[in-house]
Amino acid sequence: MLGVRRRFTCRSWYTVAIVLSTFLLLVLLAARNEAQGQSAAERRRERFTGTGVVDAEGPANDRVHERRAGRPDRGTPQEAQTGFDNATNGFDPQGPAYDSLTHDNVVPLRSFNDNRFIFEEFETIGDGLGPTYNAQSCRECHQNVVTGGGSQITVHRTGRVTDGEFFESLGGSLIHSRAIHPDVMEFVAGTDNVRTFRLSTSTLGGGYVEAVANSTLLAIRDAQPADMRGTAVVVPVLEAGGSVRIGRFGWKSQHASLESFAADAYLNEMGITTPLLPDENTSMGRGVAAYDDVADPEDDGVDVQAFANFMRATKAPPRGPIDAQVTTGDVLFGRIGCAVCHTPAITTARPGTRVNAGAFTVPEALGSKIIRPYSDFLLHDIGTGDGIPVLPGEEYAGTATRMRTAPLWGLRTRNRLMHDGLAFTVEEAIQRHRGQAEPTRRRYEALDSAEKRALLRFLSSL
Ligand code: HEC
Ligand code: HEC
Repeated sequence: MLGVRRRFTCRSWYTVAIVLSTFLLLVLLAARNEAQGQSAAERRRERFTGTGVVDAEGPANDRVHERRAGRPDRGTPQEAQTGFDNATNGFDPQGPAYDSLTHDNVVPLRSFNDNRFIFEEFETIGDGLGPTYNAQSCRECHQNVVTGGGSQITVHRTGRVTDGEFFESLGGSLIHSRAIHPDVMEFVAGTDNVRTFRLSTSTLGGGYVEAVANSTLLAIRDAQPADMRGTAVVVPVLEAGGSVRIGRFGWKSQHASLESFAADAYLNEMGITTPLLPDENTSMGRGVAAYDDVADPEDDGVDVQAFANFMRATKAPPRGPIDAQVTTGDVLFGRIGCAVCHTPAITTARPGTRVNAGAFTVPEALGSKIIRPYSDFLLHDIGTGDGIPVLPGEEYAGTATRMRTAPLWGLRTRNRLMHDGLAFTVEEAIQRHRGQAEPTRRRYEALDSAEKRALLRFLSSL
């Protein structure tokens, strides 16, 4: 009896000890995960803190210099190359036949085709995919009508506003919609009262946009009437150690350089860490190290350069057919004020200009080129702001209610419009213009039906 009881006591102590130590271990693990999550978030915040002042990057090229008759000199701007044809704009050689490339013979940075292969490549768990992610390849979201274009795929962003201050969701404002393990799946926090979808934008012609001088964007802003004036967002260039430049890429112009955007997308859309952003994302603020066997940085940075160079070498979206009605619409577009924000033409900086806070020199293929983006790449409050600032904090608070003027080049290849994709037709998109675009929208509504038809025909030629 006694012996039995003693044995029983002994066993229960043993059980208690196991339960206690398991509990302690779990608490410690949770704390460690939390700490990992927190310090990664802090380090990320540091990398996105800009330093220095915005450099002009040469004189403003805000006017279209039409090509002079006779031999154009080096400084005379030329039309940028356009085409949906998977062909280089001259920034890189075209390279070996695309269909001849394989994982074994592709050479990053050798050519347009090599870099396109890498942009299209699917990443696997062994390459570092996830643990939280949105898709396996850049091309999954950037594919219409050729690689590098946009698509109907949206990403999910949420946060909350408490006492007028914006807080990102637990693991950042981007909520990943896929994970490599069910335990690290991310969900929107119930307290997140700011929610949006954002469509995948096109990167075609991105090299030209990157080659636009800061002074040019600021000159466009300064020429806008006060009640329509755009906001130039000052953002750090990651590959320039955080030195700042005027942003132009993404729905909030949250990046100024293609290499920075590529590093950001590789981490945030695919879960691949690189030297520019070496810390893995969390799952709703919890560390995910237990699910990730690949050492950081998961890529040595070459892929990021290949993505950037692929986009730099893409041609801008080409125009559709132009007839008399389209030309009439073009004139109306200018007359009623659409062109104030949707800037029809911009000239890139001269070849040899140092841009990206010194990290990139504009080459011949991208310099002194006239682009027709129908955007000023500035942010405006037209009543559609999604409530999510570029980053939390005082500096970017004003960006919550503003969106980048959607570049209208390539408009005829998109059937879901505005950042959230919730305008189903071009006319619905125009109807959503309020705030800084209110007087312009009113002037659109006042057009007679033939004028409206001409304007819409013009828009569908872009
Ligand atoms: C899951 C879909 C998805 C994947 C995968 C993805 N992107 Fe994107 N991309 C987006 C969305 C959505 C935006 C707009 C985001 C925003 O502004 O908040 C965007 C915007 C961009 C832009 C800005 C273009 C402009 O001017 O607006 C660049 C550059 C870009 N992506 C590059 C890349 C690269 C490089 C990769 C691969 C490493 C990649 N993306 C992978 C969805 C994706
Ligand atoms: C004050 C600046 C401003 C003016 C003026 C303006 N827009 Fe916009 N436009 C924007 C912004 C900002 C967006 C993006 C809004 C969003 O996604 O929430 C946009 C988006 C659009 C889109 C959607 C494009 C896409 O790919 O999703 C169309 C089409 C458009 N504008 C046409 C026009 C037309 C036509 C006019 C003149 C009647 C006009 N806009 C006047 C700033 C302006």
